[in-house]
Amino acid sequence: MNPQWSRRHVLDTDDWSRAEIETVLDQSRAMVEVLSRPIRRAPALRGRTVILFFAEASTRTRVSFELAAKALSADVTNITATGSSLEKGESLYDTARTLEALGGDVLVMRHASSGAPYFVARRTSAAVINAGDGTHAHPSQGLLDAFTLREALGDLEGKRIAIVGDILHSRVARSDIHTLVPLGARITLSGPPTLVPAAWRCGQPPSGVTYEPDVDRALDGADAAIVLRLQRERQQAGLLPSLREYSRVWGIDVGRMGRMRAGAPVMHPGPMNEGVEIDAAVAHGSRSLIEKQVTNGVAVRMALLYLLAAGSAALLEDRA
Ligand code: CP
Repeated sequence: MNPQWSRRHVLDTDDWSRAEIETVLDQSRAMVEVLSRPIRRAPALRGRTVILFFAEASTRTRVSFELAAKALSADVTNITATGSSLEKGESLYDTARTLEALGGDVLVMRHASSGAPYFVARRTSAAVINAGDGTHAHPSQGLLDAFTLREALGDLEGKRIAIVGDILHSRVARSDIHTLVPLGARITLSGPPTLVPAAWRCGQPPSGVTYEPDVDRALDGADAAIVLRLQRERQQAGLLPSLREYSRVWGIDVGRMGRMRAGAPVMHPGPMNEGVEIDAAVAHGSRSLIEKQVTNGVAVRMALLYLLAAGSAALLEDRA
């Protein structure tokens, strides 16, 4: 068992130590090596069942967890809100107990309600991985962003990362902060005041984080930028004048990229609103790490599944 790892669930990284985060990143590097072999498979989760329970839309997270679990030889099954008994009104509690009764050892879950994975983790013996809950957290995204930045920039100590856009509704921004700050990065947030938590823009941002209302100043000299999706499905009306105005004032185009350190990369968790928060020339340009983030997502999620299995006697024991 890894001495730095004793977690039973992956719900958030807000209480993780630097050593725990580095353990996942180092393990992810080992998984990149596994994925580069002619046979991209390891036996760590043979005989175990991973259930992907996505009650909210996803492409990258769901598919990469599925590929990760299969690369570790787990049996994998999917359940989505549409087509499951959630549509008939079955409760989250009953759904989780049912999935456990069906033999799920690991439950990877996405839910529109912040806190839903905590509710489930307290009520099942399965290991729970939060694949995104409401506006609260997306820990595997934070870890894959940190992994991608570390691969591109080396040691993140003292590096300045600009996170731009809809901070208020972004579980990615929160998880990026909780993952990058312990690694020594400094974060500059920038976005419309209506889309930044009031406490953060009025002088009480988290440790290691500052708010800069002028996006050009936020980008000046930055070592990397993470552009966030404008989450129109979570927004109340009236937070923005118009998409055209948002794009003009906050959109990241090639001109704005020129304010960053020479060669500094840009990332986006996806899915993108191209032409709104990010210009297509940036998204698909030579400094974009966006597809690299997606590729790295498989290795990072393999690392999480592997560490949970290695750290959990329940996962390693044969079921009675
Ligand atoms: N980044 C992310 O969570 O993408 P999906 O919604 O496609 O999973």
